Amino acid sequence: MQNFGVAITGSGSAVPTNSLSNEVLTQLVETSDEWIATRTGIRSRRLASANDSLQAIATQAAWQAIAMAKIAPTDIDLIILATSTPDDLFGSACQIQAALGATQAVAFDMTAACSGFVFGLVTAAQYIRTGVYQNVLLIGADILSRWVDWKDRRTCVLFGDGAGAVVMQTSNRDRLLGFELKSDGTQNQCLNLTYQPQSQPLVNDISVAQGNYQPITMNGKEVYRFAVQRVPEVIDKALFRANLKADQIDWLLLHQANQRILDAVAERMHIPQHKVISNLARYGNTSAASIPIALDEAIRAKKIKDGDIIAASGFGAGLTWGAAIFSWGR
Ligand code: UT7
Repeated sequence: MQNFGVAITGSGSAVPTNSLSNEVLTQLVETSDEWIATRTGIRSRRLASANDSLQAIATQAAWQAIAMAKIAPTDIDLIILATSTPDDLFGSACQIQAALGATQAVAFDMTAACSGFVFGLVTAAQYIRTGVYQNVLLIGADILSRWVDWKDRRTCVLFGDGAGAVVMQTSNRDRLLGFELKSDGTQNQCLNLTYQPQSQPLVNDISVAQGNYQPITMNGKEVYRFAVQRVPEVIDKALFRANLKADQIDWLLLHQANQRILDAVAERMHIPQHKVISNLARYGNTSAASIPIALDEAIRAKKIKDGDIIAASGFGAGLTWGAAIFSWGR
């Protein structure tokens, strides 16, 4: 069977307008700008109001990616929305398809928490490589502020909302050089946004479970340890598959969870600081959106140039983690 190449040809990003600084957060919980900045690197985050929707920010990011790729919405064959926070539990991808007028595209949601973008990238690539689809729109978007316990200082200082998107296209030259994806459900309890059922009797001995999702809970120390150990391993594996060495990477683009994690991973891999892309000071942890937002900003700032090799790695709830090595451009 013929294998087709994959290229990332457009990017876009969008965040809600409301910005919440560490300073203002101290009005909500007992914390300080100093604690948050030194422990995480985060200074502020964007928060979606009731007037914002996941669909709206995701669509905004998607328009930018489509424009950069110089395609029409009707050229898109597939839309993958990586999110854990859809506007509708049945999925939000179809609403985005309608908003874009991407009438030829099949659209679905995909959940892999903060690894969603990297998992989505690899999933999209399979459709392109097999020749099934030529143009794929991949969006990573999350509004975790809906599910944060704003009284829990251990978690509420960390998260922000946003959306990032890329267009992936079939190409003569395969620019997805290597990848590796991992899951470990035995550590699932480290990071959750769980449904809590409440039994509601219906008739006779039949009852149903109608409850609510509970706010995010996280064992920060465990997740930190997991990330610092597993992320370098998974990048190494993806590099091995790409037949590359760490010093050949132009950019290290990690899920923007904590500056200390970014620093530790870079140090373990002997990757110098100037190659580490970081924007979490302004946005916090935007889950599936963090990698594509940072990617888009670096591309638009002309930091990332055509042909640059990027090692991207996502990690988070599931637990899930993964890495993709790709070069930017057509
Ligand atoms: O996207 C999914 C991936 N998620 C992550 O990657 C998160 C990974 N984990 C982390 O980034 C870090 O573990 C945190 C930033 C969540 C926490 O940093 P830490 O250095 O591990 O702090 P800690 O949980 O050990 O807490 C140290 C102290 C505690 O006080 P005591 O028990 O030492 O008296 C906490 O109660 O800091 C306290 N604390 C705070 N103090 C002020 C926890 N949160 C806060 C806060 N402000 N917001």
